[in-house]
Amino acid sequence: MTRDEARALDVADPLARFRDAFDMPTGLVYLDGNSLGPPPLSAHERLDRASRREWAEGLVRSWNSAAWIEAPARVGGKIARLIGARPHEVTVADATSVNLFKLAAGALSLRPGRTTILSEAGGFPTDLYALQGLAALMGDRARLRTVAPADVLAAIDEDTAAVVLTHIHYKSARRWDMAEVTAAAHAKGALMLWDLCHSAGAVAVDLNACQADLAVGCGYKYLNGGPGAPAFLFVAERWQGEIRSPIWGWMGHAEPFAFEDGYRGAGDIRGLTTGTPPILSLAALEAGVDLQLEADPALVEAKGLALAQLFIDTVEALAADPALKLASPREAPGRGLHVAFAHPQAYALVQAMIARSVIGDFRAPDIARFGFSPLFLGYVQVWDAAQALAETLATRAWDRPEYRARAAVT
Ligand SMILES: Cc1ncc(COP(=O)(O)O)c(C=O)c1O
Repeated sequence: MTRDEARALDVADPLARFRDAFDMPTGLVYLDGNSLGPPPLSAHERLDRASRREWAEGLVRSWNSAAWIEAPARVGGKIARLIGARPHEVTVADATSVNLFKLAAGALSLRPGRTTILSEAGGFPTDLYALQGLAALMGDRARLRTVAPADVLAAIDEDTAAVVLTHIHYKSARRWDMAEVTAAAHAKGALMLWDLCHSAGAVAVDLNACQADLAVGCGYKYLNGGPGAPAFLFVAERWQGEIRSPIWGWMGHAEPFAFEDGYRGAGDIRGLTTGTPPILSLAALEAGVDLQLEADPALVEAKGLALAQLFIDTVEALAADPALKLASPREAPGRGLHVAFAHPQAYALVQAMIARSVIGDFRAPDIARFGFSPLFLGYVQVWDAAQALAETLATRAWDRPEYRARAAVT
């Protein structure tokens, strides 16, 4: 595709208006919305209102008068519409890591007698760590078994309490067939827990159509909820009366303001929450989710896949360096909205591109990763980014000591 053809796609883009809804530096090509989304302009207003009016003026009254106490369920109910869930099946709380721990423990509580939690080797580390921690805590009542992705389906057996997988892999963007894997788990009596961190706000997800049991996901990537935005969790209605959270806190109690000594779980999605919700962060997240809800999810996915394809095709057409290798599935639908290229100097390569205002990220040991958030990116930008990558390789612009020095956050 030529740059002019990319320009024609921008002119015809039905999502083009969303590009003006974000606060981003001009001239920057931001290919890291899958790590930290940019602020919607409306987030500034929401944060200002939450801080100056609700916090400063309303003070403690705002728990009622500004409906702070309802924010986790309200924002969760909105996220539900993006992931094929009913409003009362989703809430916002904690970090993805914590929610994964709670729901995996909950899955064990729903499958007494079964001890295995099955996941894939090479999954996002925090998921594996949370599951390892849970297994360590449970002694011989739980173990984590990880197998290669190709072996996951065959490894589900009668001892499997839950299969825990990330729908779209954080590095390669390889995408599981949600309906197929969920059905395979159910065929052996296991529950299915999906990590939707790279899916929510990116690709069309229909948890209930797939009969998924449990899911988690984060708010700061494609939902543009801000740094450290709280995460969400989904518990299918059929499990809400029975599932037990391993962390009992007052927000999960049936009547938090009864101040009873003994814990009585809420028996609905609130039972999976724990402590006081982060209201300022929720305000920013709600702005991101509201904006996302204005866009047709099918168009969002189609544009993201088209941007990713444009990047792959253009890089491969322009870049002559044989050391650069595509590390993502070449074609949709087996892929999400980011693209990974392996290169021995991937870290320096990403730094050199950042120096020319194209921001991607690095994932150890050798992956340069580029995300294609559909709401704020255009086709010409992606074409330019592919050319920047090809030029950086051709000129070896990455080959400078300052691009090799690793910062604390890579
Ligand atoms: C698949 C996946 N799960 C979980 C996380 C992080 O979760 P947390 O919200 O706990 O930081 C990430 C972050 O990049 C991720 O990619």
